[in-house]
Amino acid sequence: MSVIGVLTAGGDCPGLNAVIRGVVARAEEAGKHEVVGIRNGWEGLMEGRTRPLQRDDVRGILAAGGTILGTSRKDPYVHGDGSESVSRTLRENDIDTLIVIGGDGTLLTALKLAEEGVRIIGVPKTIDNDIAATDFTFGFDTAVQIVTDALDRLTTTAEAHNRVIICEVMGRTKGWIATYAGIAAGADAILIPEMPLDLEQVAKIIRRRHRRGRNYSIVVVAEGVKPPEAVELPKDAFGFARLGGVAFQLAPRLEQLTGFETRVTVLGHLQRGGSPTAFDRVLATRLGVAAADLAIAGEHKIMVAMRSANIEPVPLEDACAEIRGVDEALFAVAETFFG
Ligand code: F6P
Repeated sequence: MSVIGVLTAGGDCPGLNAVIRGVVARAEEAGKHEVVGIRNGWEGLMEGRTRPLQRDDVRGILAAGGTILGTSRKDPYVHGDGSESVSRTLRENDIDTLIVIGGDGTLLTALKLAEEGVRIIGVPKTIDNDIAATDFTFGFDTAVQIVTDALDRLTTTAEAHNRVIICEVMGRTKGWIATYAGIAAGADAILIPEMPLDLEQVAKIIRRRHRRGRNYSIVVVAEGVKPPEAVELPKDAFGFARLGGVAFQLAPRLEQLTGFETRVTVLGHLQRGGSPTAFDRVLATRLGVAAADLAIAGEHKIMVAMRSANIEPVPLEDACAEIRGVDEALFAVAETFFG
């Protein structure tokens, strides 16, 4: 008999429940394995808040957004004494392997715990799609679909009023959501942290477009783009800046440079809520099943990753080595349609 612990930490993301369901179903199918869910991420692991998870507990959750386990931005290295602060819960629940479903901050914490001897398997999750060593993270496809739908809607109202609309999207320090949704919706300009475009260039693109008879434009800006004026941003538990609002600085400047009325829409947490797309449900399910298989096989200090359509284990260190950004070739595809 072995016990597999599972937790979801950091910002939530569509598909978390599908991973939990995958872990529990596979562990139960294999027999002789129990799953213990940890509530509210690392916080629950520090405070001993757990619940047994059986097949019946995870029925009907595949399509549900959020996480049945809850999440938090608490961290054992920020709010506790590292592995000391989680060892009691692991011991009291006889947890052999801990499956940690999280983004870059969570996986880094998982790596530190793994280096202190905790047996961990990481599952990459984030709408930002910025985790190294995996081609995609679940949640990203759903976020891109939500943003694309929003951009399509913004386009019709922008056209009706001859306006420029700047739509600010999430993504932290990377521009994956902005680039993918911008391509999908045919954005007239996209600003991302990896490929800085100055506002003069954006204004030029828009002026040229409007001269050619298109009197409205859609500009997508990633929240991580450097604002023209530095602002003091609050920090989250991992020490990351809480981003958001750069579009409000850009809009009046762009309006001044182009002479066209410019409005702002910030999509915010809408991008993380609700039901995952079919792609994300399948990816999350495959990752959950693979994580359970690896735990049962006695593997640890690894992350399950999507690589060329396969699900494979990669060293946890590789996943934490960098924050993956948009490559030039992809952005060049988006640029082809600017203006
Ligand atoms: O990492 C996911 C994400 O949604 C980012 O895109 C965003 O910057 C951040 O989380 C927001 O986090 P919170 O909900 O804690 O403010």
